[in-house]
Amino acid sequence: MNPKNILVLAVVLLAGVCPAQVEIKNPRCEYLSNPAGIDAASPRLSWIITSTQRGGKQTAYQILVATSEAALRAGQGDLWDSGKVASDQTAQVLYAGKPLASGQRAWWTVRVWDAAGRPSESSAPAWWEMGLLTPDDWHGKWIGRTNLAGLAADQAPATPELRRAFTLEGKIKRARAYVIGLGYFELSINGHRIGDHLLDPGYTRYDRRLLYVTHDVTSALQAGENVMGVMLGHGWFDVSTKAAWDFDKAPWRATPRLLLELRVEMEDGRTVTISSDEQWKTSDSPITFSSIYGGENYDARLEQPGWDAPGFKDDSWQPAVVADAPKGQIVAQAMHPIRVTKVIQPIAVTEVEPGVYVFDVGQNLTGNAGLNISGPAGAKVTLRYGEMLDGKGRVDQSNIAVHVWRFNRNQQFQTDNYTLKGQGVERWRSRFNYNGFRYVEVTGAPGKLTTANLAINFFHSDVPEAGNFETSNPLLNRIWTNGRWSYLCNLFGIPTDCPHREKNGWTGDAEVASEQGLFYQDGITVYEKWIRDLADEQRSNGALPGIAPTGGWGYGFGGPPWDSALLIVPWNLYQYYGDSTALKQHYEESRRYVDYMTTRAKSGIVNIGLKDWSPWKANTSPGVTDTGYYYRDARIVAAVARLLGKEDEAKKYDALADDIRAAFNKAFFNAETGSYSTGTQTALGCALYQGLAGPENEERVVTNLVAAIARTDNHLDYGYLGAQYVPSALAAHGRADVAYTMLTQTTQPSYGWQIAQGATTLWETWDGSGSQSGSLNHTFFGDVNAWMMKTIAGINPDPAAPGFKHILINPQVLGDLTFAKGSYDSVHGLIASEWTVKDGQFRLNVTIPANCAATVSLPISDPAQVRESDQPASGAPGVTLLRTAGKRSLFAVQSGVYLFSGPLASQTAPAP
Ligand code: BGC
Repeated sequence: MNPKNILVLAVVLLAGVCPAQVEIKNPRCEYLSNPAGIDAASPRLSWIITSTQRGGKQTAYQILVATSEAALRAGQGDLWDSGKVASDQTAQVLYAGKPLASGQRAWWTVRVWDAAGRPSESSAPAWWEMGLLTPDDWHGKWIGRTNLAGLAADQAPATPELRRAFTLEGKIKRARAYVIGLGYFELSINGHRIGDHLLDPGYTRYDRRLLYVTHDVTSALQAGENVMGVMLGHGWFDVSTKAAWDFDKAPWRATPRLLLELRVEMEDGRTVTISSDEQWKTSDSPITFSSIYGGENYDARLEQPGWDAPGFKDDSWQPAVVADAPKGQIVAQAMHPIRVTKVIQPIAVTEVEPGVYVFDVGQNLTGNAGLNISGPAGAKVTLRYGEMLDGKGRVDQSNIAVHVWRFNRNQQFQTDNYTLKGQGVERWRSRFNYNGFRYVEVTGAPGKLTTANLAINFFHSDVPEAGNFETSNPLLNRIWTNGRWSYLCNLFGIPTDCPHREKNGWTGDAEVASEQGLFYQDGITVYEKWIRDLADEQRSNGALPGIAPTGGWGYGFGGPPWDSALLIVPWNLYQYYGDSTALKQHYEESRRYVDYMTTRAKSGIVNIGLKDWSPWKANTSPGVTDTGYYYRDARIVAAVARLLGKEDEAKKYDALADDIRAAFNKAFFNAETGSYSTGTQTALGCALYQGLAGPENEERVVTNLVAAIARTDNHLDYGYLGAQYVPSALAAHGRADVAYTMLTQTTQPSYGWQIAQGATTLWETWDGSGSQSGSLNHTFFGDVNAWMMKTIAGINPDPAAPGFKHILINPQVLGDLTFAKGSYDSVHGLIASEWTVKDGQFRLNVTIPANCAATVSLPISDPAQVRESDQPASGAPGVTLLRTAGKRSLFAVQSGVYLFSGPLASQTAPAP
């Protein structure tokens, strides 16, 4: 045998014997771990590869999907055997096996082959379970306590509870409950609450789409008598509070109602189905008032102990009333649920007036207060939630109740009333609403109160944490933390503007918050759901409302900066997850929107929307910002057309974009001064950020932008749009230093000033509580955190290889920073970048996930002086010198962990 053949044989033998140097982690289906209730016919499967070696890679995969765990363990993919697929794809692999039936569980595993062709161990068995796939799967009727629709503004019929007793004979194998309880529901079986979700089902436009929730209730059921109990809240389905957005007149509005399907598989092969119908009985619950804006009133004296358990006498209960079915299409809620993620003890309580206790949570947040109290029956305790205190130290709701009180000052707002039953220690929390607050004012409570009387439940959509960021500058760290709080406080199955005053899915807010949000949390499930909500609202002419969902309010309101969420949020999902599903799914709606803008444009300029919202002093013509989005949208449509193989349409929308850019420059560019429009920070930032400025003029525009900032003493002078454009435009054109100076100011207007005033979240206005209706918990100024992750930690997605398949690591040493670290758990695994500067030496620790690669740009002028883990970087395993750019050295880096070091260049400039 010649030596070459011996080598080949050795490789073949090794591949067979040695396990691969890669491990498989985090198998997920539709971005969820072992989800029940999936209705995508070809769900997306993803996993992560880790490797202890540099350059660790997957060269092939094989997925097995089986009807049982046993079959899977025996290596049988009786539903699907993908075979060995030569591919490095680890995310969004579409299931392509046998069609799956309603309720069917599919077990799956994946193994991969590494760069040397060695197979890995198979991943631990994971599963997903299909939901109810067709309308015929639902055997029940919609039921409620009443069947009223089109209620009067202040009409809030009691909040019902429903019960159904039934007997199961034999051994239970498996049971699932599929539930839509509108507005919100809590399900219990045999006296025990099922699951830990709050505010289910997710808020949608109920006459277009309804979400059902799937629960595994196997262990809750027993042989013999069982009882299901459902409590219903009004939520967004039945808003009785009159407020600015007319939800009291929503076309879907009706009294609470339930559709439920319980499927019990018995060991003997029978399936028992219990559905919602007239066999259910109903009564008023102890909740006497429930409103998403108003709060909840609960009279514990009305409790009927045991109502949701066997043995209860329900003779006085009435049969459930069959209710009209809401018109929406029924789909699975395949989304991370809302749940409590922290329970916080208040940091202080003060008796500000006799009997008036104000609790300070120490943090502005969302959720409610769990009451822990004893006293005589009939005593009524009132909890008022707010984020400010008045001069007397009492809770001041004026900034957040403004759009409710202007209709009637007596409307209850963010207030709970609990009436004691007088039996020992009573614990209670509201069920079907949430509040935005830092302070809780408690009145009417018997005895002296201490911080132990309240436990604060922080809840929001519980999407997994993705990113973290820290530097040597405590101010930046606080901006990051405040931003994350505001983001989570504004994620309730939809991204919202603020968690108290409006709780609305303001589209523009969601759009500018999406990049920071994706860095904070793995929120794709919520975004995909919400983009469907938004698409559901599009009118046939292409128009979109400013809020989604909406009951009809808000069309012709925000204009392109708001509406473009329909395109930009899916675009960001594509950049961050490499997943084009939402982009492709909403291509037609996106195209229709751009066409609609074309009908609204005059000589290529759109000027129909709101201006750069919540500015400091300078105002910018909406013509500038509207047209900027019109341009960007046209480019996105062209790009998606290309992804879909529609080359003609791609060309058409690229040509449109070229025309828009020409029109924009004709209308707003002053060739003499190199400025745009009135030369505001926002106008100049917009031209650069949206790619509208001609390359030949960019330098002059940047100079003008820097000068404009200098004129405001290096302070920002913009609203929420400028807040996204200006720092990014500066960083992209070598002036991150100016952005840094501006963003670290501590005098007004600045983040630092807000923080000096005690801000624990981001505010809506630069003058904060000074403004009458300013919320203190808005996300839309938080893009600064995406900027910090990209510019300071230097972690950037590469548009040429979406989903961080290729990563641009481009950290910048700014101001007085001596260290910074950022990490992001991407769809391909952990990306980390951590640098320090000491004695003129720059050191960077980088982690690039297996199966990915990066370009690492270092602020070290001479590549020959760059070292990687004690050897010259050029030639280190996994590292290749690419080029120098300005005072930076750029290296191509394979997956793995690296430590680069070298002398810090005197001035840093970003890599082109
Ligand atoms: C919201 C904003 C929103 C704006 C648009 C406000 O009331 O809170 O965040 O984008 O309205 O008009």
